[in-house]
Amino acid sequence: MESWSHGTFPRISRLWTRGHHEMKLLPQALFLCLALALAWADHHEHRRKGAVRDRCKGIEMDAVAVNEEGIPYFFKEDHLFKGFHGQAELSNKSFAELDDHHHLGHVDAAFRMHYEDDPNHHDRMFFFLDNKVFAYYQHKLEAGYPKAISEVFPGIPDHLDAAVECPKPECVEDSVIFFKKNEIFHFYVKNKTVDERDFRSMPNCTSAFRFMEHYYCFHGHKFSKFDPKTGEVRGKYPKDARKFFMRCSKFDEDNDHEERERCSRVHLDAITSDDTGNIYAFRGHHYIRKDEGNDTLKADTIESAFKELHSEVDAVFSYNSHLYMIKDDQLFVYRVGEPHTHLAGYPKPVQAELGIKGPIDAAFVCQDRHIAHIIKDRHMYDVDMSATPRTATNKRPISILKKVDGAMCGPGGVKVFRGNHYYHFESPKTFVAARALPEQHRISLELFGCDH
Ligand SMILES: *[C@@H]1O[C@H](CO)[C@@H](O)[C@H](O)[C@H]1NC(C)=O
Ligand SMILES: *[C@@H]1O[C@H](CO)[C@@H](O)[C@H](O)[C@H]1NC(C)=O
Ligand SMILES: *[C@@H]1O[C@H](CO)[C@@H](O)[C@H](O)[C@H]1NC(C)=O
Ligand SMILES: *[C@@H]1O[C@H](CO)[C@@H](O)[C@H](O)[C@H]1NC(C)=O
Repeated sequence: MESWSHGTFPRISRLWTRGHHEMKLLPQALFLCLALALAWADHHEHRRKGAVRDRCKGIEMDAVAVNEEGIPYFFKEDHLFKGFHGQAELSNKSFAELDDHHHLGHVDAAFRMHYEDDPNHHDRMFFFLDNKVFAYYQHKLEAGYPKAISEVFPGIPDHLDAAVECPKPECVEDSVIFFKKNEIFHFYVKNKTVDERDFRSMPNCTSAFRFMEHYYCFHGHKFSKFDPKTGEVRGKYPKDARKFFMRCSKFDEDNDHEERERCSRVHLDAITSDDTGNIYAFRGHHYIRKDEGNDTLKADTIESAFKELHSEVDAVFSYNSHLYMIKDDQLFVYRVGEPHTHLAGYPKPVQAELGIKGPIDAAFVCQDRHIAHIIKDRHMYDVDMSATPRTATNKRPISILKKVDGAMCGPGGVKVFRGNHYYHFESPKTFVAARALPEQHRISLELFGCDH
């Protein structure tokens, strides 16, 4: 196999220049100057303070890439945010060598290589700092790295702004797309040639990201979805990254909960359907209700409909026209129907009510049954809801998923939710017995009808 670092030399096969838009209106020019001045002041403010790393305040990320397990990593200066919510940590905690060599305190660009034909490079995370490239596999630096960018990616400039992998058939060949200012380079991994492309409608990206087979260019705290082949941006962009890629409870005044929740990439906390088939899904401070029959989707704050629960529920199941909602070690019970009324005397300890210690990961009841199936730490338990006192019995291991976000059961079987996907099983029994994951379904698209 041809070694990665001794490939053929690049050939610039096509060259285009990017179009420049004329600034016609003076007020716009003035506004832009003001915006730039403010952005500059803001940037310096951040630098000076050093520690302002609240991603819900709208910060611009330096680089974004998924790790080997598909978890997004957002890099900002010498810090790293893992996943869609939570605090930043120092990047050198996960990637020690990144600062040994440079002390630059930031990553210019990052991507996860997709190149199945070459197992020595497939799934590696590549980081670009200045004129160097680092390759990691499972947080370990690959032998021989860091290397010069010009050695590993001949024809690609130093001091990049962004990079993103583009496997075929999303691109014609397995490629990496590199961004520097307004220049865009398609690097074909197989023959190491470079195509410089003109993506006229695209903003200058400060980071770029492939997620669920879609391509996103981040600029400031906004993002635009683009077609990796043509660079076309279709639809209403840019959008605020905090709405779709971060879990921020209250950052804007507009109350477009439906749009955000329908299309959010953040995983759900819990989901259930009531006796008539209406779905309730919970995520952070919000919940989504999808009505059976007319497919109407409504989203609002948890606070507004389930005041006592406030936010961030762990598991929800429906039984006998009530919603059983578990948060930490407490069980809340609401009667279904507008408005949802919280039963007197609740919350009560999960242990006392269900015979199992909270918190739990997920729970569901199948129609016409009295068994609540409880998922906790890779095991499933059964709780007979008609018994007193209730006890958790029939403990059995779940082999196919390390973690379950939520699960629900309907006439068609069990749906199990993890990350951005759900999986369908005929029954609780086939779920537990499964040894391989069935077909993935996208939550945003297939359950909530988000078309982007
Ligand atoms: C990681 O980076 C921080 C700040 O940039 C530094 O203080 C610390 O010593 C570094 N840790 C390691 C293990 O390199
Ligand atoms: C994009 O980068 C080019 C080159 O640096 C610059 O001239 C242009 O103003 C930038 N566009 C935006 C919208 O920042
Ligand atoms: C490299 O691959 C690309 C994409 O298949 C092709 O267009 C290009 O001509 C190839 N270049 C060379 C030098 O073989
Ligand atoms: C959809 O159906 C639910 C009841 O299932 C009803 O409350 C709601 O008003 C309906 N919405 C529309 C737009 O018809």
